[in-house]
Amino acid sequence: MKQNVINARVTFRNSPIHILEKFTIRDVEGAYSQFKNHSGLDECVIIQTCNRIELFGKAKNYDLEKIKKTWASIAGLDQEIFDENLEVEENGNAFQHLLKLTSGLDSMVVGEEQILGQIKNSITTARTKKASGQHLNTLFDKAIRIGTRIRNSSGISQGGISVGSMAVKLAEENIDELKTKKILLIGTGEVSTLVAKSLQRRGYSFDVTSRTLERSKAFCETMGGNPVRFEEVLSGFENYDILFVATTAPYFLVTYDRITDAVGKRNKGMMILDLSNPRTVDEKVATLGGIKLMNLDQIAEMVEKNMKARLNKVKTVENIINEEVSVIEASMKRLDAEPLVKDVFKNIDSLRQKELKKALSMLDETDEKKIKIIEDLTKAVVESIVSTPMNNVRKASEQGKPDMLDIASKLFDYKKEQE
Ligand SMILES: NC(=O)c1ccc[n+]([C@@H]2O[C@H](COP(=O)([O-])OP(=O)(O)OC[C@H]3O[C@@H](n4cnc5c(N)ncnc54)[C@H](OP(=O)(O)O)[C@@H]3O)[C@@H](O)[C@H]2O)c1
Repeated sequence: MKQNVINARVTFRNSPIHILEKFTIRDVEGAYSQFKNHSGLDECVIIQTCNRIELFGKAKNYDLEKIKKTWASIAGLDQEIFDENLEVEENGNAFQHLLKLTSGLDSMVVGEEQILGQIKNSITTARTKKASGQHLNTLFDKAIRIGTRIRNSSGISQGGISVGSMAVKLAEENIDELKTKKILLIGTGEVSTLVAKSLQRRGYSFDVTSRTLERSKAFCETMGGNPVRFEEVLSGFENYDILFVATTAPYFLVTYDRITDAVGKRNKGMMILDLSNPRTVDEKVATLGGIKLMNLDQIAEMVEKNMKARLNKVKTVENIINEEVSVIEASMKRLDAEPLVKDVFKNIDSLRQKELKKALSMLDETDEKKIKIIEDLTKAVVESIVSTPMNNVRKASEQGKPDMLDIASKLFDYKKEQE
Protein backbone atom coordinates (compact mmCIF):
# COMPACT_ATOMS: atom_id res chain seq x y z
CA MET A 1 0.00 0.00 0.00
CA LYS A 2 2.95 2.29 0.69
CA GLN A 3 3.63 4.69 -2.17
CA ASN A 4 7.15 5.75 -3.12
CA VAL A 5 8.32 9.07 -4.47
CA ILE A 6 11.41 9.09 -6.66
CA ASN A 7 13.53 11.97 -7.94
CA ALA A 8 15.78 11.37 -10.96
CA ARG A 9 17.84 14.32 -12.11
CA VAL A 10 20.62 15.60 -14.28
CA THR A 11 21.94 18.94 -13.07
CA PHE A 12 24.85 21.35 -13.43
CA ARG A 13 26.35 19.83 -10.29
CA ASN A 14 27.27 16.58 -12.03
CA SER A 15 27.18 17.47 -15.69
CA PRO A 16 28.80 20.27 -17.68
CA ILE A 17 26.59 22.40 -19.87
CA HIS A 18 27.35 20.53 -23.14
CA ILE A 19 26.17 17.27 -21.52
CA LEU A 20 23.25 18.82 -19.66
CA GLU A 21 21.78 20.25 -22.84
CA LYS A 22 21.59 16.74 -24.34
CA PHE A 23 19.01 15.84 -21.69
CA THR A 24 16.74 18.78 -22.54
CA ILE A 25 13.16 17.66 -23.04
CA ARG A 26 11.96 19.70 -26.00
CA ASP A 27 8.37 18.50 -26.03
CA VAL A 28 7.34 18.50 -22.36
CA GLU A 29 3.72 17.74 -23.20
CA GLY A 30 4.71 14.70 -25.25
CA ALA A 31 7.13 13.65 -22.51
CA TYR A 32 4.34 13.62 -19.95
CA SER A 33 2.30 11.18 -22.00
CA GLN A 34 5.38 8.98 -22.60
CA PHE A 35 6.21 8.88 -18.90
CA LYS A 36 2.58 8.16 -18.05
CA ASN A 37 2.30 5.33 -20.56
CA HIS A 38 5.72 3.69 -20.42
CA SER A 39 7.65 4.48 -17.23
CA GLY A 40 5.45 2.61 -14.77
CA LEU A 41 4.99 5.81 -12.73
CA ASP A 42 1.45 6.76 -11.89
CA GLU A 43 2.29 10.39 -11.15
CA CYS A 44 5.09 12.57 -12.45
CA VAL A 45 6.32 16.16 -12.57
CA ILE A 46 9.07 17.45 -14.86
CA ILE A 47 11.24 20.39 -13.73
CA GLN A 48 13.36 21.84 -16.48
CA THR A 49 15.55 24.93 -16.17
CA CYS A 50 18.85 25.97 -17.70
CA ASN A 51 20.68 24.18 -14.87
CA ARG A 52 18.66 21.05 -14.43
CA ILE A 53 16.28 18.53 -15.88
CA GLU A 54 14.48 16.65 -13.13
CA LEU A 55 11.73 14.13 -12.83
CA PHE A 56 9.68 13.53 -9.70
CA GLY A 57 7.58 10.38 -9.88
CA LYS A 58 5.23 8.41 -7.65
CA ALA A 59 4.48 4.69 -7.78
CA LYS A 60 3.94 1.84 -5.41
CA ASN A 61 6.87 -0.02 -6.91
CA TYR A 62 8.85 1.97 -9.42
CA ASP A 63 11.25 0.46 -11.90
CA LEU A 64 14.27 2.70 -12.41
CA GLU A 65 15.35 0.91 -15.58
CA LYS A 66 11.94 1.55 -17.13
CA ILE A 67 12.13 5.24 -16.15
CA LYS A 68 15.61 5.61 -17.65
CA LYS A 69 14.55 3.81 -20.81
CA THR A 70 11.56 6.10 -21.26
CA TRP A 71 13.62 9.25 -20.61
CA ALA A 72 16.39 8.05 -22.93
CA SER A 73 13.88 7.51 -25.70
CA ILE A 74 12.25 10.93 -25.12
CA ALA A 75 15.63 12.71 -25.24
CA GLY A 76 16.95 10.48 -28.04
CA LEU A 77 19.95 9.37 -25.96
CA ASP A 78 21.78 6.11 -25.26
CA GLN A 79 20.84 4.69 -21.91
CA GLU A 80 24.51 4.49 -20.80
CA ILE A 81 24.79 8.29 -20.68
CA PHE A 82 22.18 8.23 -17.93
CA ASP A 83 24.32 6.06 -15.70
CA GLU A 84 27.13 8.62 -15.80
CA ASN A 85 24.94 11.67 -15.21
CA LEU A 86 21.75 10.68 -13.45
CA GLU A 87 21.30 11.10 -9.70
CA VAL A 88 18.44 9.24 -8.08
CA GLU A 89 16.86 9.65 -4.67
CA GLU A 90 13.68 8.46 -3.06
CA ASN A 91 11.18 9.48 -0.39
CA GLY A 92 12.84 11.45 2.47
CA ASN A 93 15.91 12.29 0.39
CA ALA A 94 13.77 13.28 -2.59
CA PHE A 95 11.64 15.54 -0.34
CA GLN A 96 14.79 17.08 1.06
CA HIS A 97 16.07 17.76 -2.43
CA LEU A 98 12.79 19.43 -3.43
CA LEU A 99 13.02 21.68 -0.36
CA LYS A 100 16.57 22.58 -1.35
CA LEU A 101 15.22 23.53 -4.75
CA THR A 102 12.35 25.66 -3.49
CA SER A 103 14.52 27.41 -0.91
CA GLY A 104 17.21 28.10 -3.54
CA LEU A 105 19.88 26.01 -1.84
CA ASP A 106 20.58 23.83 -4.85
CA SER A 107 20.73 26.70 -7.34
CA MET A 108 23.88 27.81 -9.12
CA VAL A 109 23.26 31.22 -7.57
CA VAL A 110 22.29 30.12 -4.04
CA GLY A 111 19.02 31.75 -2.98
CA GLU A 112 18.06 32.95 -6.48
CA GLU A 113 14.37 33.62 -6.93
CA GLN A 114 13.66 32.21 -10.38
CA ILE A 115 13.70 28.53 -9.43
CA LEU A 116 10.66 29.00 -7.19
CA GLY A 117 8.62 30.40 -10.09
CA GLN A 118 9.90 27.62 -12.35
CA ILE A 119 8.78 24.97 -9.85
CA LYS A 120 5.36 26.61 -9.53
CA ASN A 121 5.05 26.49 -13.32
CA SER A 122 6.16 22.84 -13.39
CA ILE A 123 3.50 21.66 -10.96
CA THR A 124 0.85 23.79 -12.70
CA THR A 125 1.71 22.17 -16.05
CA ALA A 126 1.74 18.69 -14.50
CA ARG A 127 -1.68 19.37 -12.94
CA THR A 128 -3.07 20.64 -16.25
CA LYS A 129 -1.75 17.56 -18.05
CA LYS A 130 -3.18 15.39 -15.25
CA ALA A 131 0.31 13.93 -14.84
CA SER A 132 0.47 14.70 -11.12
CA GLY A 133 -2.05 13.50 -8.56
CA GLN A 134 -2.73 13.66 -4.86
CA HIS A 135 0.80 12.69 -3.76
CA LEU A 136 2.91 14.97 -5.94
CA ASN A 137 0.43 17.85 -5.75
CA THR A 138 0.55 17.71 -1.95
CA LEU A 139 4.34 17.37 -1.95
CA PHE A 140 4.89 20.31 -4.30
CA ASP A 141 2.35 22.58 -2.61
CA LYS A 142 4.02 21.97 0.73
CA ALA A 143 7.54 22.36 -0.66
CA ILE A 144 6.63 25.67 -2.31
CA ARG A 145 5.09 27.01 0.90
CA ILE A 146 8.03 25.89 3.03
CA GLY A 147 10.60 27.17 0.51
CA THR A 148 8.96 30.61 0.49
CA ARG A 149 8.91 30.71 4.28
CA ILE A 150 12.57 29.67 4.52
CA ARG A 151 13.63 32.38 2.06
CA ASN A 152 11.74 35.05 3.97
CA SER A 153 12.97 34.02 7.39
CA SER A 154 16.63 33.28 6.54
CA GLY A 155 17.32 36.15 4.13
CA ILE A 156 19.13 33.68 1.83
CA SER A 157 17.71 35.45 -1.24
CA GLN A 158 18.89 38.90 -0.23
CA GLY A 159 21.81 40.73 -1.79
CA GLY A 160 20.93 40.96 -5.47
CA ILE A 161 23.28 38.27 -6.85
CA SER A 162 21.91 36.90 -10.12
CA VAL A 163 23.15 35.14 -13.24
CA GLY A 164 22.69 38.51 -14.93
CA SER A 165 24.75 40.52 -12.48
CA MET A 166 27.49 37.87 -12.47
CA ALA A 167 27.65 37.96 -16.28
CA VAL A 168 28.07 41.74 -16.19
CA LYS A 169 30.73 41.39 -13.51
CA LEU A 170 32.58 38.88 -15.70
CA ALA A 171 32.51 41.36 -18.57
CA GLU A 172 33.86 44.07 -16.26
CA GLU A 173 36.68 41.82 -15.12
CA ASN A 174 37.69 40.93 -18.65
CA ILE A 175 37.23 44.18 -20.55
CA ASP A 176 39.00 47.44 -19.78
CA GLU A 177 36.89 50.58 -19.78
CA LEU A 178 33.61 48.79 -20.34
CA LYS A 179 31.77 52.15 -20.29
CA THR A 180 33.34 53.08 -23.64
CA LYS A 181 32.38 49.76 -25.32
CA LYS A 182 29.40 48.87 -27.48
CA ILE A 183 27.24 46.32 -25.69
CA LEU A 184 24.47 44.22 -27.21
CA LEU A 185 21.91 42.14 -25.35
CA ILE A 186 20.19 39.44 -27.42
CA GLY A 187 16.92 38.30 -25.82
CA THR A 188 14.16 39.97 -23.88
CA GLY A 189 13.20 37.21 -21.46
CA GLU A 190 13.82 36.67 -17.76
CA VAL A 191 17.59 36.34 -17.91
CA SER A 192 17.91 39.31 -20.24
CA THR A 193 15.93 41.28 -17.69
CA LEU A 194 18.53 40.41 -15.04
CA VAL A 195 21.39 41.41 -17.37
CA ALA A 196 19.66 44.66 -18.33
CA LYS A 197 18.94 45.55 -14.71
CA SER A 198 22.59 45.03 -13.83
CA LEU A 199 23.86 47.01 -16.83
CA GLN A 200 21.44 49.81 -16.06
CA ARG A 201 22.38 49.87 -12.37
CA ARG A 202 26.05 50.21 -13.24
CA GLY A 203 25.42 52.94 -15.76
CA TYR A 204 26.27 51.15 -19.03
CA SER A 205 24.44 51.94 -22.24
CA PHE A 206 23.47 48.97 -24.37
CA ASP A 207 21.45 47.85 -27.38
CA VAL A 208 18.71 45.25 -27.09
CA THR A 209 17.40 42.98 -29.78
CA SER A 210 14.67 40.39 -30.02
CA ARG A 211 12.88 38.75 -32.92
CA THR A 212 10.34 41.56 -33.05
CA LEU A 213 11.25 45.22 -32.71
CA GLU A 214 8.03 45.86 -30.76
CA ARG A 215 9.14 43.40 -28.10
CA SER A 216 12.58 45.03 -27.84
CA LYS A 217 10.97 48.47 -27.61
CA ALA A 218 8.62 47.38 -24.86
CA PHE A 219 11.52 45.75 -23.00
CA CYS A 220 13.68 48.89 -23.26
CA GLU A 221 10.87 51.10 -21.99
CA THR A 222 11.01 49.34 -18.63
CA MET A 223 14.54 47.94 -18.51
CA GLY A 224 16.55 50.60 -20.32
CA GLY A 225 18.72 50.09 -23.41
CA ASN A 226 18.15 51.00 -27.04
CA PRO A 227 16.04 48.68 -29.19
CA VAL A 228 17.66 47.56 -32.46
CA ARG A 229 16.43 45.42 -35.34
CA PHE A 230 17.19 41.71 -35.12
CA GLU A 231 18.09 41.23 -38.80
CA GLU A 232 20.50 44.17 -38.74
CA VAL A 233 22.21 42.82 -35.66
CA LEU A 234 22.64 39.30 -37.02
CA SER A 235 24.52 40.63 -40.04
CA GLY A 236 26.35 43.33 -38.08
CA PHE A 237 28.06 41.81 -35.05
CA GLU A 238 31.20 43.77 -35.98
CA ASN A 239 29.54 46.83 -34.41
CA TYR A 240 29.74 45.37 -30.92
CA ASP A 241 32.47 44.74 -28.35
CA ILE A 242 30.38 42.65 -25.96
CA LEU A 243 27.43 40.37 -26.61
CA PHE A 244 25.19 39.01 -23.88
CA VAL A 245 23.08 36.21 -25.35
CA ALA A 246 20.11 34.82 -23.40
CA THR A 247 17.53 33.20 -25.63
CA THR A 248 15.71 29.92 -25.86
CA ALA A 249 16.39 29.63 -29.61
CA PRO A 250 16.79 25.94 -30.49
CA TYR A 251 19.72 26.71 -32.83
CA PHE A 252 22.84 28.88 -32.89
CA LEU A 253 22.05 32.56 -33.41
CA VAL A 254 25.64 33.60 -33.05
CA THR A 255 27.15 31.31 -35.65
CA TYR A 256 30.74 30.67 -36.61
CA ASP A 257 30.18 32.26 -40.04
CA ARG A 258 28.61 35.43 -38.63
CA ILE A 259 31.44 35.95 -36.14
CA THR A 260 34.09 35.10 -38.73
CA ASP A 261 32.55 37.80 -40.89
CA ALA A 262 32.50 40.27 -37.97
CA VAL A 263 36.11 39.50 -37.04
CA GLY A 264 37.11 40.16 -40.64
CA LYS A 265 35.49 43.60 -40.53
CA ARG A 266 36.88 44.83 -37.20
CA ASN A 267 40.37 44.87 -35.83
CA LYS A 268 39.44 44.69 -32.19
CA GLY A 269 38.60 41.79 -29.89
CA MET A 270 35.10 40.85 -28.84
CA MET A 271 33.65 39.19 -25.76
CA ILE A 272 30.61 36.93 -25.98
CA LEU A 273 28.71 35.71 -22.92
CA ASP A 274 26.29 32.93 -23.68
CA LEU A 275 23.84 32.57 -20.81
CA SER A 276 21.63 30.16 -22.73
CA ASN A 277 21.09 26.46 -22.25
CA PRO A 278 20.95 24.93 -24.79
CA ARG A 279 23.69 27.27 -25.98
CA THR A 280 22.87 29.76 -28.69
CA VAL A 281 26.45 30.66 -29.47
CA ASP A 282 28.48 28.17 -31.52
CA GLU A 283 31.44 27.22 -29.34
CA LYS A 284 33.64 27.14 -32.44
CA VAL A 285 33.70 30.96 -32.41
CA ALA A 286 36.15 30.72 -29.48
CA THR A 287 38.77 29.43 -31.93
CA LEU A 288 38.70 32.76 -33.79
CA GLY A 289 41.44 35.24 -32.91
CA GLY A 290 40.29 37.99 -30.50
CA ILE A 291 37.09 36.24 -29.51
CA LYS A 292 36.59 35.54 -25.82
CA LEU A 293 33.61 33.27 -25.23
CA MET A 294 32.14 32.49 -21.83
CA ASN A 295 29.16 30.33 -21.02
CA LEU A 296 27.11 29.30 -17.98
CA ASP A 297 29.91 27.07 -16.63
CA GLN A 298 32.24 30.04 -16.25
CA ILE A 299 29.48 32.12 -14.74
CA ALA A 300 28.95 29.32 -12.19
CA GLU A 301 32.58 29.64 -11.07
CA MET A 302 32.14 33.37 -10.72
CA VAL A 303 29.01 32.91 -8.69
CA GLU A 304 30.79 30.60 -6.22
CA LYS A 305 33.35 33.29 -5.50
CA ASN A 306 30.64 35.85 -4.78
CA MET A 307 28.42 33.82 -2.58
CA LYS A 308 30.14 34.24 0.78
CA ALA A 309 27.34 36.15 2.54
CA ARG A 310 24.66 33.80 1.33
CA LEU A 311 26.76 30.73 1.93
CA ASN A 312 27.02 31.70 5.59
CA LYS A 313 23.27 31.19 5.79
CA VAL A 314 23.31 27.79 4.12
CA LYS A 315 23.83 25.84 7.35
CA THR A 316 20.82 27.55 8.96
CA VAL A 317 18.66 26.78 5.94
CA GLU A 318 19.86 23.18 5.86
CA ASN A 319 18.84 22.76 9.49
CA ILE A 320 15.36 24.14 8.82
CA ILE A 321 15.04 21.84 5.79
CA ASN A 322 16.00 18.78 7.84
CA GLU A 323 13.25 19.61 10.34
CA GLU A 324 10.70 20.20 7.59
CA VAL A 325 11.51 16.93 5.82
CA SER A 326 10.04 14.93 8.68
CA VAL A 327 6.86 17.04 8.54
CA ILE A 328 6.55 16.33 4.80
CA GLU A 329 7.34 12.65 5.34
CA ALA A 330 4.50 12.39 7.86
CA SER A 331 2.05 14.09 5.47
CA MET A 332 3.06 11.80 2.62
CA LYS A 333 2.72 8.69 4.79
CA ARG A 334 -0.68 9.92 5.91
CA LEU A 335 -1.69 10.05 2.24
CA ASP A 336 -0.99 6.31 2.00
CA ALA A 337 -4.07 5.74 4.18
CA GLU A 338 -6.34 8.01 2.14
CA PRO A 339 -7.53 5.51 -0.52
CA LEU A 340 -8.60 3.07 2.24
CA VAL A 341 -10.22 5.82 4.33
CA LYS A 342 -12.06 7.19 1.31
CA ASP A 343 -13.26 3.73 0.34
CA VAL A 344 -14.50 2.92 3.84
CA PHE A 345 -16.42 6.21 4.10
CA LYS A 346 -17.88 5.70 0.63
CA ASN A 347 -19.04 2.13 1.34
CA ILE A 348 -20.48 2.96 4.73
CA ASP A 349 -22.25 5.98 3.34
CA SER A 350 -23.87 3.98 0.57
CA LEU A 351 -25.02 1.45 3.20
CA ARG A 352 -26.36 4.33 5.27
CA GLN A 353 -28.28 5.73 2.30
CA LYS A 354 -29.70 2.32 1.41
CA GLU A 355 -30.92 1.67 4.96
CA LEU A 356 -32.24 5.23 5.27
CA LYS A 357 -34.25 4.85 2.10
CA LYS A 358 -35.67 1.55 3.36
CA ALA A 359 -36.61 3.04 6.75
CA LEU A 360 -38.21 6.14 5.22
CA SER A 361 -40.35 4.08 2.89
CA MET A 362 -41.44 1.84 5.81
CA LEU A 363 -42.36 4.94 7.80
CA ASP A 364 -44.04 6.41 4.74
CA GLU A 365 -42.64 9.71 5.93
CA THR A 366 -43.17 12.82 3.74
CA ASP A 367 -42.48 15.62 6.19
CA GLU A 368 -39.22 17.20 4.92
CA LYS A 369 -38.29 18.45 8.36
CA LYS A 370 -38.59 14.98 9.91
CA ILE A 371 -36.77 13.35 6.99
CA LYS A 372 -33.93 15.81 7.49
CA ILE A 373 -33.74 15.00 11.22
CA ILE A 374 -33.62 11.25 10.52
CA GLU A 375 -31.04 11.71 7.79
CA ASP A 376 -28.81 13.86 10.02
CA LEU A 377 -29.15 11.23 12.73
CA THR A 378 -27.89 8.47 10.40
CA LYS A 379 -24.98 10.68 9.32
CA ALA A 380 -24.04 11.50 12.90
CA VAL A 381 -24.15 7.82 13.94
CA VAL A 382 -21.97 6.76 11.00
CA GLU A 383 -19.56 9.62 11.56
CA SER A 384 -19.14 8.93 15.25
CA ILE A 385 -18.55 5.21 14.69
CA VAL A 386 -16.16 5.45 11.75
CA SER A 387 -14.19 8.64 12.42
CA THR A 388 -12.11 7.42 15.35
CA PRO A 389 -10.88 4.17 13.73
CA MET A 390 -10.17 6.02 10.49
CA ASN A 391 -8.23 8.76 12.25
CA ASN A 392 -6.26 6.06 14.04
CA VAL A 393 -5.50 4.43 10.69
CA ARG A 394 -4.32 7.80 9.36
CA LYS A 395 -2.20 8.39 12.46
CA ALA A 396 -0.65 4.92 12.23
CA SER A 397 0.17 5.55 8.59
CA GLU A 398 1.70 8.92 9.47
CA GLN A 399 3.85 7.21 12.10
CA GLY A 400 5.05 4.66 9.55
CA LYS A 401 3.08 1.67 10.87
CA PRO A 402 1.80 0.02 7.69
CA ASP A 403 0.65 -3.10 9.63
CA MET A 404 -2.33 -1.13 10.90
CA LEU A 405 -3.25 -0.27 7.30
CA ASP A 406 -3.08 -3.94 6.33
CA ILE A 407 -5.28 -4.97 9.25
CA ALA A 408 -7.81 -2.20 8.49
CA SER A 409 -7.84 -3.25 4.82
CA LYS A 410 -8.72 -6.81 5.86
CA LEU A 411 -11.35 -5.64 8.37
CA PHE A 412 -13.08 -3.39 5.86
CA ASP A 413 -12.53 -5.74 2.94
CA TYR A 414 -10.60 -3.07 1.07
CA LYS A 415 -9.30 -4.11 -2.36
CA LYS A 416 -5.78 -2.76 -2.82
CA GLU A 417 -6.07 -2.94 -6.62
CA GLN A 418 -8.37 0.06 -6.41
CA GLU A 419 -5.42 2.29 -5.47
N1 LIG B 1 15.69 31.48 -16.14
C1 LIG B 1 16.81 31.12 -15.53
O1 LIG B 1 16.90 30.92 -14.31
C2 LIG B 1 18.05 30.94 -16.33
C3 LIG B 1 19.30 31.07 -15.71
C4 LIG B 1 20.45 30.92 -16.51
C5 LIG B 1 20.32 30.67 -17.86
N2 LIG B 1 19.08 30.52 -18.41
C6 LIG B 1 18.99 30.25 -19.86
O2 LIG B 1 18.86 31.53 -20.48
C7 LIG B 1 18.09 31.39 -21.67
C8 LIG B 1 16.95 32.38 -21.63
O3 LIG B 1 16.13 32.03 -20.51
P1 LIG B 1 14.93 32.97 -20.07
O4 LIG B 1 14.47 32.43 -18.76
O5 LIG B 1 15.32 34.39 -20.19
O6 LIG B 1 13.85 32.61 -21.20
P2 LIG B 1 12.52 33.42 -21.59
O7 LIG B 1 12.14 34.34 -20.50
O8 LIG B 1 11.56 32.38 -22.06
O9 LIG B 1 12.95 34.29 -22.85
C9 LIG B 1 13.36 33.66 -24.02
C10 LIG B 1 13.93 34.67 -24.97
O10 LIG B 1 14.44 33.92 -26.08
C11 LIG B 1 13.98 34.53 -27.28
N3 LIG B 1 13.87 33.52 -28.33
C12 LIG B 1 13.19 32.37 -28.30
N4 LIG B 1 13.34 31.70 -29.46
C13 LIG B 1 14.12 32.47 -30.24
C14 LIG B 1 14.64 32.34 -31.56
N5 LIG B 1 14.37 31.28 -32.29
N6 LIG B 1 15.42 33.32 -32.03
C15 LIG B 1 15.71 34.41 -31.28
N7 LIG B 1 15.25 34.60 -30.04
C16 LIG B 1 14.47 33.64 -29.52
C17 LIG B 1 12.66 35.13 -26.91
O11 LIG B 1 12.45 36.16 -27.82
P3 LIG B 1 11.02 36.52 -28.44
O12 LIG B 1 10.52 37.61 -27.59
O13 LIG B 1 11.34 36.92 -29.80
O14 LIG B 1 10.18 35.26 -28.36
C18 LIG B 1 12.94 35.66 -25.51
O15 LIG B 1 13.54 36.91 -25.58
C19 LIG B 1 17.63 29.96 -21.73
O16 LIG B 1 18.47 29.24 -22.60
C20 LIG B 1 17.78 29.48 -20.32
O17 LIG B 1 18.04 28.09 -20.28
C21 LIG B 1 17.95 30.70 -17.69
